[in-house]
Amino acid sequence: MNAVELHKKLESNAGLLIFGILFVSAIGGLVQVLPSVFQDSLVTPTAHTEPYGALELVGRDIYIREGCGNCHSQQVRPLLAEVRRYGPYSRAGESAYDRPFLWGSKRTGPDLHRIGGKYTDAWHRLHLVSPRAVVPKSIMPGYPWLADAPADAGDIARKMRILRRLGHPYTDAEIAAAPAALQGKTELDAVVAYMQVLGRPPPPDEGNQAP
Ligand code: HEC
Repeated sequence: MNAVELHKKLESNAGLLIFGILFVSAIGGLVQVLPSVFQDSLVTPTAHTEPYGALELVGRDIYIREGCGNCHSQQVRPLLAEVRRYGPYSRAGESAYDRPFLWGSKRTGPDLHRIGGKYTDAWHRLHLVSPRAVVPKSIMPGYPWLADAPADAGDIARKMRILRRLGHPYTDAEIAAAPAALQGKTELDAVVAYMQVLGRPPPPDEGNQAP
């Protein structure tokens, strides 16, 4: 059977065509997924990468809940324009303590991987409650309710114990102290704390320039 006949047969038989489409997209999926399962650099933290503290972990959950990732990526690509704008490009191992990782590709707003230390806590507070108070033309929505909601300490110890089982190096003392660390904190405090550790400390100087 030559290629034209095979093509005709495929196109005139819905079952075969569906199978063909699934087969081809499965190859695409496997090519993307399989290497990451065996790629050590994704699960080995870089030397300067620290696991998140209790308040930062809660902030990260709120970041996910509020859908910040729908507008913000957390992955500086190794391209000159990105490195000049955001700072050192993201290393795979820097996300080893991100479960799930929040790399993303949708950038309605700027990338946030190197946001830590770029602004003061006070700037973030104002910006999150009322973005246009600091960036007049901003189209980012405000999140005023974060300032009134207490940071949820309910399951933090359990969450840290589970993360420890997955390889995050939390000590018993850190886990025991976690609920107390959230006492009196708001969700806004948690998101700001999370923002301030993102991409910090940056990787050592060498190799930070885009290839
Ligand atoms: C609808 C899209 C959208 C959503 C959702 C969104 N942002 Fe933004 N964000 C933007 C845009 C656009 C900007 C650039 C203008 C500005 O600074 O306000 C921005 C800017 C920022 C900046 C400053 C970045 C810089 O380098 O100056 C931070 C920090 C930030 N957003 C955090 C958040 C957090 C945290 C959330 C979730 C609570 C969030 N954003 C949700 C669109 C969004």
